[in-house]
Amino acid sequence: MKALIINGSPRQKGNTSIALTEIAKQLEKLGIESEIVWIGNKPVRGCIACNTCKDNPGACVFDDDVCNGISAKMNSSDALIVGSPVYWGQPNGDGMHFIR
Ligand SMILES: Cc1cc2nc3c(=O)[nH]c(=O)nc-3n(C[C@H](O)[C@H](O)[C@H](O)COP(=O)(O)O)c2cc1C
Repeated sequence: MKALIINGSPRQKGNTSIALTEIAKQLEKLGIESEIVWIGNKPVRGCIACNTCKDNPGACVFDDDVCNGISAKMNSSDALIVGSPVYWGQPNGDGMHFIR
């Protein structure tokens, strides 16, 4: 059992990181392996509805951001946990890309 934990905050070592690290520690106690991946603070491309990913599941036509790398990690994980700071009452914009 492996959990992929995505830190959607633009701040690598901020509050979201602290909360997710605690979750990872608790999972470890339960014998569940996890990996925390930070999405970084560079732009994440939005979907342009080109449908490329329909023929090639998990692969985005844009390959200049973190999405394809994270998508591959999702495919080899059993569980997904997404952490995000609250910006104006909702998850931050780039973090939203990973909430599905
Ligand atoms: C632009 C912006 C908007 C925010 N909006 C909210 C909000 O609506 N509600 C709230 O409780 N906190 C809000 N916050 C505070 C952050 O959610 C909070 O500081 C969070 O812990 C930051 O996470 P981080 O340290 O991982 O970046 C906002 C912060 C920023 C920068």
